[in-house]
Amino acid sequence: HRVFDISNLGNLASYGLYRGNPKSKVMVIGEALGEEESIKHIPFCGKAGVLLDRIFASIGLNTNRDCYLTNLVPYRPVAPEGSGKKNLAPTKAQIDACKHFLDKQIGLICPEIIVLLGKVAMEGVLGYKGPISKHVGLWALDSRYPGIRFFIMYHPAFLLYSQRDPEQYQVAREAMWLHAKRLRNKVDLLGGNELTYPELETTN
Ligand code: URA
Repeated sequence: HRVFDISNLGNLASYGLYRGNPKSKVMVIGEALGEEESIKHIPFCGKAGVLLDRIFASIGLNTNRDCYLTNLVPYRPVAPEGSGKKNLAPTKAQIDACKHFLDKQIGLICPEIIVLLGKVAMEGVLGYKGPISKHVGLWALDSRYPGIRFFIMYHPAFLLYSQRDPEQYQVAREAMWLHAKRLRNKVDLLGGNELTYPELETTN
C-alpha cells in the first residue's frame, strides 16, 4: 500500500484525474492540469485540449468516446508568485510522486495504445532524455508495459505556442497531421473502429 505524498503539492492543488472513456483502447497522457482544467477538474478542457479534440476528430477519434485522457500529475503545478509564469511543467519529484497513480490507471484501463503528448510525458513515462524530435511520430515498446504500443506526438500546446512563428507553425502542423494519420493507421490495424473493450459479463 503506497500513500500519495502530497507534501509538495501546496494547498492550491486541485485535482482532475481523467476524462474520456475508461473502456477505451487508446490512452492519452499529457503533463498536468492548466488553469482552466484545475478550475473545472477536467483534464484537457482548456485551449490545448480543444485543439487536441480537433486533431483527434480529424482522424475520426472522439476523445470522450474513443480515448481515456489523463496526465502525469492529476493537478496543476502552481508557479511561484512573481515568476511571471502561468503553467509549470511538473517536476521530476512531482512526476515520481504521482507515478503510481498513472501506473494504476494503465493497469485498470489496459490500453492497447498509449499516446504520449510532448517531451515531458515521453520522458516521464519512457524515461527518454533529450529532444523529442528524435522520437516524435514513432512507435515504441517498453518491457515494463508489455503489450502496449506507445506513440509519441507533439503536445498540442506546442502547436499553439508555435503560432507566433508562421514558418515553425507550418512545420509543426504538418508534422502533427502526419503523426495523427500514423496513429489512425495503427488503430485501424488493431481493429478499426472497435475502439473500446466490450462490456464484461458480470457474474455474482
Ligand atoms: N495540458 C496537459 O498536458 N494536460 C491537460 O490536462 C491540459 C493541458
